[in-house]
Amino acid sequence: MLEVRSLSKEFHGLKAIDEVSFRVEPGSITSLIGPNGAGKTTLINMVTGVFGPTRGEILLDSRAITGLRSNRIAALGARRTFQTVRLFNGLTVMENLLVGRLHTLSVSNRISLLLPMRWGDAPGRERAQAVLGSLGLSHLAGEIATDLPYGTQRRVEIARALMGQPRFLLLDEPAAGMNERETAQLVLDVRRIRDTGVTVLLVEHDMSMVMSVSDRIVVLNFGRKIAEGPPADIQRNPEVIASYLGEPV
Ligand SMILES: Nc1ncnc2c1ncn2[C@@H]1O[C@H](COP(=O)(O)OP(=O)(O)OP(=O)(O)O)[C@@H](O)[C@H]1O
Ligand SMILES: [Mg+2]
Repeated sequence: MLEVRSLSKEFHGLKAIDEVSFRVEPGSITSLIGPNGAGKTTLINMVTGVFGPTRGEILLDSRAITGLRSNRIAALGARRTFQTVRLFNGLTVMENLLVGRLHTLSVSNRISLLLPMRWGDAPGRERAQAVLGSLGLSHLAGEIATDLPYGTQRRVEIARALMGQPRFLLLDEPAAGMNERETAQLVLDVRRIRDTGVTVLLVEHDMSMVMSVSDRIVVLNFGRKIAEGPPADIQRNPEVIASYLGEPV
């Protein structure tokens, strides 16, 4: 699904990502972990076209997407969520999902959607209802999204990302701010999403979530890849323990 080759990103001389290479196999849940500032969000930003790399290559389905703009990459089937909640204030859950669809439509369709009282066309509403149903959120469709508990808002953002029927979903710390019960629900959601054929790249600090959902884990530290492998290997890797995980208790 994804391959990055010798990817680097420098910000004013700071190497945020330094010669990183790895692959995300189709149908897998792959996690990208590492300490604060390791470069995880920078990597997601490059893969989703927020900015291009300083050097290196990004391939989606074996096709070079390096430097493509985010709308082109979204059109190829990659969607993301952000590290902080970015829902529209004062709009319902349903409206938040429908607004997310706007950029996938033609200009004339967009204009008709923007007419007052008409956020959504019938196919959009059907799709939104199906997505909310799949995440057990149907009963919240009419609620103001930003009034919901934080953990629920984060799940609404995942729902919004699913509106475009992505084949590849990138989640930037979806469990941040969630309580244990919400995180357990999130684990089920992510598995269910993967089971519908969506490949997942997960950035997360919640190690119990990472170790239970991941097929593979890539570890970054100061912009460099320091380890890669299945959870059992990563948990035992001395360099990963020293730089990030700490000794098991
Ligand atoms: N747009 C930017 N301009 C300048 N520096 C940036 C920019 N984005 C990120 N950085 C820097 O790049 C480094 C990597 O940041 P990044 O946000 O990718 O880390 P992260 O692994 O996502 O951390 P966290 O776990 O805290 O979210 C940091 O030193 C950060 O300050
Ligand atoms: Mg980050």
